[in-house]
Parts: sequence; C-alpha cells; structure tokens
Amino acid sequence: MSNLHLIDHPLVQHKLTLMRRKDASTSTFRTLLNELSSLMAYEVTRDMPLQDVQIETPLEPMTGRMIDGKKLVLVSILRAGNGILEGMLSVVPGARVGHIGLYRDPATLQAVEYYFKMPGDMAERDIIVVDPMLATGNSAIAAIDRLKRLKPKTIKFVCLLTCPEGIAALQLAHPDVPLYTAAIDRQLNDHGYILPGLGDAGDRIFGTK
Ligand code: URA
Repeated sequence: MSNLHLIDHPLVQHKLTLMRRKDASTSTFRTLLNELSSLMAYEVTRDMPLQDVQIETPLEPMTGRMIDGKKLVLVSILRAGNGILEGMLSVVPGARVGHIGLYRDPATLQAVEYYFKMPGDMAERDIIVVDPMLATGNSAIAAIDRLKRLKPKTIKFVCLLTCPEGIAALQLAHPDVPLYTAAIDRQLNDHGYILPGLGDAGDRIFGTK
C-alpha cells in the first residue's frame, strides 16, 4: 500500500478529533477544516517539482527555488470538497480550481455526474482531487475516471477520513493514484457512512441539517 499516505501529524489528529465531536458548531467545524486542509496541503505538495529562479536579495543575486503553482489544479468534488479549497489555497494561492458535481444515487450508492468545469490545458497540469470523505469510493473513482480522460500529468486524491472499504475500492480502480488521508476509520454502515466518522461532511460544513 505504498500509495496510501496517512497524515498522522499531531496537529492534524488533534483538529480532526475536535471536528468529529457532534457538538462542534458549523463555524467551528469550518474553521478546523480550513486549518486541517492547510496542514494536509503541506503533505500532499511535498514532492512538487521546484524550478530554479534568479532573484536578488538586498545583499546579492542568488538562485532560489520555487514551485509553479499555476500548474496545480485543485479539483473539488461538490459540494463537500469545497470545504477543503480555502485552506489548501491559502498554502498554494496560485493553484487553479476545477469542480466536479456528482451525486450519490440513494438506492445504488453509485455516482452520477451533473457538473464538470476545469481549467484549460489539463494535459500540462498536476491534479489534487479533494473530498473530505472517501466512503464507498464511488464518487472518487468516477471523478478520477473522468479526469483521466483529460490526460493530466499526475493525479492525487486527498480526504480527511476514509475506511478499509473506500481504500480498497479506490486502489482497485486507480492503483496509480496516491491517496492522502488523516484517518482510516473502522467501517461503512449500510447507508454508506463512515463509522465512527464525523457524520455528513457537507451538512456539517454548510449547516444544512
Ligand atoms: N459522506 C459523508 O459526508 N460522510 C460519510 O460518512 C460518508 C460519506
């Protein structure tokens, strides 16, 4: 499972535990998600390529190293993925943003696409797909299937929480896509929710319940 990256930094674990609590308010949940997303951005961008750039310090010229943030695309799986964007963009502000809308058919739990909007030149870009919960894996797999048709340079997937079922499904469908998560929970329930989890991430981010 070399493509599985568990982000077990103490700050990440601490904030995640605060978010899971059922009495965390919408604003607390959102604030923590922003903070966590910034921390996860450090991990997921760790191997991003650097370019040499010539700069001048107040004392002399030097060769510095910088990432080309514009080549990076954060792809949010609507709607909960949007909760991760702000925190990640605070770390890589030059990144472009794409959105993919998929809803889960309540009967089959399969992903159905209703929206897809990406920047141009996807063949030159590195993609980070974001969704707080990797549960059945159906949405992630469908999103990555669709994105692969655009032949991007690389694709990574980042979530807050997953479970053995979600990992197995994603790794079976897309063994080449690195998966970053802050926790691997026990299991899915019959409705496709992660246990112990944190409930419905979209409802908790947007206060819709
Ligand atoms: N989506 C959520 O928001 N929560 C889960 O537990 C699973 C999928």
